[in-house]
Amino acid sequence: MQDIKEIVREKYGQAALRLSSGGSSCCGAAAALDGCCDPITSNLYDAGQTGSLPEAAVLASLGCGNPTALAELKPGETVLDLGSGGGIDVLLSAKRVGPTGKAYGLDMTDEMLALARENQRRAGATNVEFLKGTIESIPLPDNSVDVVISNCVINLSGDKDVVLREAFRVLRPGGRFAVSDVIVRGEVPADIRRSMELWVGCIAGALEEKEFAAKLRAAGFTDVEVEPWRVYKIDDARAFLTESGVDVDRLAPLVEDKFASAFIRARKAAAKSCCGPECCA
Ligand SMILES: C[S@@+](CC[C@H](N)C(=O)[O-])C[C@H]1O[C@@H](n2cnc3c(N)ncnc32)[C@H](O)[C@@H]1O
Repeated sequence: MQDIKEIVREKYGQAALRLSSGGSSCCGAAAALDGCCDPITSNLYDAGQTGSLPEAAVLASLGCGNPTALAELKPGETVLDLGSGGGIDVLLSAKRVGPTGKAYGLDMTDEMLALARENQRRAGATNVEFLKGTIESIPLPDNSVDVVISNCVINLSGDKDVVLREAFRVLRPGGRFAVSDVIVRGEVPADIRRSMELWVGCIAGALEEKEFAAKLRAAGFTDVEVEPWRVYKIDDARAFLTESGVDVDRLAPLVEDKFASAFIRARKAAAKSCCGPECCA
């Protein structure tokens, strides 16, 4: 667990430093390739959305989806972004919840927090706070958040059950979980899964889609949905895998359509209204 965290922290610390000095945002597969950008992190946001953000915040995007597009944020709500990186989803959320709402970003990597705070300053966002901490131990009280978002981070955790329990804990009754992440669809042999995960840039590993849903239910969530929206093709990963010494043509039938970016939605049930003396006790 600690090893995974240290490797992830180092990798994203370096990515943040590259970004701060105007370098490439690619830190997964595409970092090893010429010619940014990779099929995972590219074309995730509408120009209409990103147009209002500082360019540096948009370039710092390292996600695999757009959780703010599925979260239906309302003015006055409190949002928490798990693994907020350079802050793009926090800044977009802050605009949607407005001055009466609040957007928190949580990240464990100092260099990413520095980059995010600089992007916040550039954006002039006052309803934003970036917190240092881990998604396995969220530094916020119980029942304090309306919406938990996250973009390509839960796959990096070595203890996903704890992360999902923490997300459930901080959500208010009726609160929403709206996350983008890379998932695996069905069975994939372990060594092949590992090669693809290296391509995607995952360290700890993506969850199988049914397993993700089961873990959410086990953490207490209801209305769980896992919706793959960008399915990866072997040709997306061909150059990276070939460079890593993998026989891509042997791998192809086992990998094609098995890895995807997905929208993952769930809800913490609303508190039951009081119905009599016993349930009020
Ligand atoms: C793939 S980047 C995604 C960043 C951001 N969500 C985005 O869409 O641009 C992963 C981020 O999650 C952070 N991270 C990874 N594991 C974490 C953990 N266990 N606790 C807190 N932050 C973590 C990293 O420091 C990094 O900033």
